[in-house]
Amino acid sequence: MKKESIIVAGSRGIGAAIATSLSSIGIKTTATSKKDLDTSDLNSVKSFINKNTEVDILVLNTGGPPAIDFYDIKEQDFIKYHNQLFLSFCLMLQNIKIRDDGYVFLISSFNIKEPDPKLLLSNSYRIAFTSVLKSLSKSLAKRNVTCINLAPGPIKTERLFDLVDNMEEFEKQLPLGRAAEPSELGNFVRAIVENNIKYLNGVTINFDGGHSNYIL
Ligand SMILES: NC(=O)c1ccc[n+]([C@@H]2O[C@H](COP(=O)([O-])OP(=O)(O)OC[C@H]3O[C@@H](n4cnc5c(N)ncnc54)[C@H](OP(=O)(O)O)[C@@H]3O)[C@@H](O)[C@H]2O)c1
Repeated sequence: MKKESIIVAGSRGIGAAIATSLSSIGIKTTATSKKDLDTSDLNSVKSFINKNTEVDILVLNTGGPPAIDFYDIKEQDFIKYHNQLFLSFCLMLQNIKIRDDGYVFLISSFNIKEPDPKLLLSNSYRIAFTSVLKSLSKSLAKRNVTCINLAPGPIKTERLFDLVDNMEEFEKQLPLGRAAEPSELGNFVRAIVENNIKYLNGVTINFDGGHSNYIL
């Protein structure tokens, strides 16, 4: 049984739901807020790494970037979200040892395969890190460490309420007529860990209720 987990951005929303689910099966969880670990601030990331050197389960999650038109994105925005969604996660994987038989979960977005032009800062850095995780999944598999990229569609959290003007109208247009509860994603992660699913490695899983239009 896995013993210890770190859930980055585990104070609210999807991360908090994963932390609750993993705790419910007796896994010790360190669920961080932006105050504990700000993934856009490399000093914060380095200080966190110094205190957290190994773990069984690492959930790489963080806040989502704002929706900005490409021509309005400032140079400092590119740098901030490069750090927030890409470089911080690379530094964590280079410096926090995932114990044998462990798991790395990435929380990305269904938009990585079907880019929303307004969420360019999100799509682009997430797809770059997805490539890193895919590459690493092969070497980490030698120690039975499993890497899974979860690509959520609409999940009912503050992030979704920030992005959507009229939630009721928005939900009506979704295949299931609703966005997911964060606990659905939390339960999915728990099921993978609890059942020791290991062959589902190096994959991106759309968790979008059928909302996306792509086939693969
Ligand atoms: N909800 C959706 O429909 C949806 C769909 C696709 C992808 N996603 C992505 O999934 C991720 C989680 O989203 P959510 O819906 O759970 O959002 P949420 O409910 O707004 O929660 C955001 C979490 O991220 C933390 N956070 C914010 N900025 C951070 C930073 N710079 N460094 C570290 N942690 C930070 C927050 O910590 P504090 O409590 O300290 O603020 C909080 O724990 C985001 O990247 C989001 O874009 C969400």
